[in-house]
Amino acid sequence: MSAFDTTPHVRRRAELARRIGPAGIAIIPTAPERQRNRDSDYLYRHDSYFYYLTGFTEPQAWLVLTGDGRSRLFCLPKDLEREIWDGYRLGPADAPARLAVDEAWPVTELDAQLPALLDGRDAVWFPFATHEGLESRVDGWLGQLRSRVRYGTLCPEQQRDLCGPLDEMRLVKDPQELDTMRRAGRISAGAHIRAMQVCARMLRAGQAVHEYHLDAELLHEFRRHGSQYTAYGSIVAAGANACVLHYRADAAPVRDGELVLIDAGCELDGYASDITRTFPANGRFSGPQRTLYELVLASQHAAVAATRAGARFTDPHEATVKVLAQGMLDVGLLDRNKVGTLDDVIEKRAYFQFYMHRTGHWLGMDVHDCGAYTEPSEIGQTSVRKDALTGDTIVNRPARILRPGMVLTIEPGIYVRPAEGVPEAFHHIGIRIEDDAVVTPTGCELITRDVPVEPDAIEALMRA
Ligand code: GLY
Ligand code: MN
Ligand code: MN
Repeated sequence: MSAFDTTPHVRRRAELARRIGPAGIAIIPTAPERQRNRDSDYLYRHDSYFYYLTGFTEPQAWLVLTGDGRSRLFCLPKDLEREIWDGYRLGPADAPARLAVDEAWPVTELDAQLPALLDGRDAVWFPFATHEGLESRVDGWLGQLRSRVRYGTLCPEQQRDLCGPLDEMRLVKDPQELDTMRRAGRISAGAHIRAMQVCARMLRAGQAVHEYHLDAELLHEFRRHGSQYTAYGSIVAAGANACVLHYRADAAPVRDGELVLIDAGCELDGYASDITRTFPANGRFSGPQRTLYELVLASQHAAVAATRAGARFTDPHEATVKVLAQGMLDVGLLDRNKVGTLDDVIEKRAYFQFYMHRTGHWLGMDVHDCGAYTEPSEIGQTSVRKDALTGDTIVNRPARILRPGMVLTIEPGIYVRPAEGVPEAFHHIGIRIEDDAVVTPTGCELITRDVPVEPDAIEALMRA
């Protein structure tokens, strides 16, 4: 077994213990196994909170952390017969040495030990609304404790959501996490290059290309570099399919002259990457394709320039929208006579017809990672406005202030569905460009740029 560095997990558990206070107790289960169909499970993936605190990837495991910093792992016991069928188990005897937890017990002991562990604590912390059935398990343990109050037991008076402190911790990545994310970004970038090159090569050779061919190339590259999973279902969208935001890699033919949008990233050692590139299937952008591509790229450059410590999470989005909205007026996607000036387009959200998503999200263990998007230090400063498109009343809270070590995606796009007044040359073009950015004190580090974004560079690499 490879060397396992427990240092970050020990540090995170100590920090979490500090946050729940000396009389608190935290209960964190890993993810359940799920059946896909008879006798066949979905590929198992641990729970991100649990993994963050333990680095342990086996199913049926729980971490119980008390505010004094003591950690107890409950895990599957050694069982030769089950290990013959299902594989190696670490087991409670070896867990303390391997994971640097203070104690480890068979998971079958959980129900017996929890009431006593809860006795005398001021608060029990667990992740709310994330694990089906967890609340009732906790209720059961508290009920047992309460039934013994006549004998002097003390029930915690508070149940508190562990997602609060854990989300805050996970939002700012530590050096080990950033190192893994950089490696994940490099692998995914290589996979995008491979898919682009295979696409152009197959078309040049007169071979039929389907979306699933490119999906297979991505997966090949992810896996051969040790990635365990895709970070999400890969999108490989040929031509008009790119205008379906949650399209999956399917069976459509990739045709000469069309664009291909690929949104795909690997998960490496528990951390996601998330890259989108849009490229001409045959390796040459047409005029209208290049016009819209350069517009999306310019908006991404503006968003990158707006991403730095001290800026707000919403600043890159606002920078994107300004460039896209102006571009939509300039290229005739939006008719000035109908929608008015740039300010009107932004105010009335007329750009929404072609750009209907936000410019980014937190990235980490989960592709849409946890972490508050509003600034905790300004939580009470609300204002109310009416949404220009829907008329809904929106409560605005100040957006999160970016800090070094936060990681977010920057992913502007344009999606043109045919509609009255929309120039035909742009119909069915869907473009997104997405990179992963680590916030630094003075700007951001793009960790996915091993695959180029400049149109000339994409064309050159597809000729290679
Ligand atoms: N691939 C998911 C996203 O870009 O948000
Ligand atoms: Mn994304
Ligand atoms: Mn994506």
